[in-house]
Amino acid sequence: MRTQVGIVGAGPAGLLLSQLLARGGIESIVVEIRSRAYCEARQRAGVLEAGSVQVLRAAGVSQRLDRLGLEHGGIYLQFAGERHHIDFRDLTGGRTVTVYAQTEVVKDLIAARLSAQQRIEFEVTDTEVADLDTTRPVLRYTSAGGKRTEVNCDAIAGCDGFHGICRPAIPASVRTVHECDYPYAWLGILADVPPSTDELIYCHHPRGFALHSMRTPQISRLYLQVAPDEDIGAWPDERIWDELRRRLALPGWELKEGAIMDKSITPMRSFVGAPMRYGRLFLAGDAAHIVPPTGAKGLNLALADVAVLARALTSLIRGGRADLADRYSGACLNRVWRATHFSWWMTTMLHATPGAGPMEAQLQLAQLRYTTGSRAAATTLAENYVGYPPLKLNPDTP
Ligand code: FAD
Ligand code: PHB
Repeated sequence: MRTQVGIVGAGPAGLLLSQLLARGGIESIVVEIRSRAYCEARQRAGVLEAGSVQVLRAAGVSQRLDRLGLEHGGIYLQFAGERHHIDFRDLTGGRTVTVYAQTEVVKDLIAARLSAQQRIEFEVTDTEVADLDTTRPVLRYTSAGGKRTEVNCDAIAGCDGFHGICRPAIPASVRTVHECDYPYAWLGILADVPPSTDELIYCHHPRGFALHSMRTPQISRLYLQVAPDEDIGAWPDERIWDELRRRLALPGWELKEGAIMDKSITPMRSFVGAPMRYGRLFLAGDAAHIVPPTGAKGLNLALADVAVLARALTSLIRGGRADLADRYSGACLNRVWRATHFSWWMTTMLHATPGAGPMEAQLQLAQLRYTTGSRAAATTLAENYVGYPPLKLNPDTP
């Protein structure tokens, strides 16, 4: 078989890339190890920067997002029994974020791909990429029906997440890796109850971090800091609500409870692999970098990578110009490192490090008081949270 771009992974990065490429007249195939139902139900991110919304609009997949997305003009920071509002509109000249679940972004993209008769192969096994340092890289996989297929491509996009096969296909001698694991994880729940807040609450507490987020006006999403090796079986629903109530407590405010529809534990990690390109293999999204979720940046970075990559691949394949492809990795890594710093800063300011003692808590509280009390410090948080301007990879500037 032959296609122009072989895409590994039907997460937000792979799906959006195939959609943007098709709009630029480039043919692609997406292969995915999981089922369509699994991809559409996997609970993850919920906050889109304005730049991400713009990219999804430009890709023609924003009809439901424009109707159902919830525009948020700020967040709350809670600590020491006080809840402070960080007003993004005021601090960043009117900028906002949109609460819209990653599950919905994925559903919208899959529907768009399939209605345009574009190929997505779900439930493949034994995905392999080869001949990456040639102009005819190869993608191989076994279909759900058992047939082994070899696809000759002009380029391959590794959009297969942190545990995928593409990043390890880059020889170790040309890769550098920066990473740190955090000594905590998030227990996340999806609850059938209207949110108890109008905007997200990020909460510092001696018992550990808590976050009140949401999916729709009817569905809440909440998280608790737990130990990285925590057993989810030790967290019956009543214990989760008790702990959320304790950490989020504020006089005069009440946490509404409802049926828990989904429960999972996510480890926390920062990881940056560089370069994001080897020959004709281009990595995008979690395949190349991971941030802890405290800054709500992972999905946004994945979409930002892909917006740049779609232009670079279109220019390479249709225009025969390699300059944008050559600048892809460096351009994306600037944004990646900014978001990596912001996510690390939010994470370490808000979580209780096991065994750290009272010094850490006092330093965190000092930083939280400064962030909520100084307009300059609040603006730093706000402008990082709402996101960075779209990357312009202009063919005519170096
Ligand atoms: P993925 O979504 O991981 O997709 C990769 C795909 O590749 C998967 O479907 C996988 O099955 C497939 N795959 C893997 N291996 C293979 C293979 N060998 N062959 C074929 N297919 C393969 N980000 C935000 O921006 N805002 C948030 O609010 C936020 N909150 C989060 C909360 C939680 C609890 C978690 C876990 C993450 C959160 N994130 C958030 C991060 C965000 O979900 C990820 O950054 C995002 O999913 C990255 O998209 P991706 O397409 O790069 O990777
Ligand atoms: C979410 O809604 O899942 C969410 C929101 C904000 C974060 C992380 C996750 O920082």
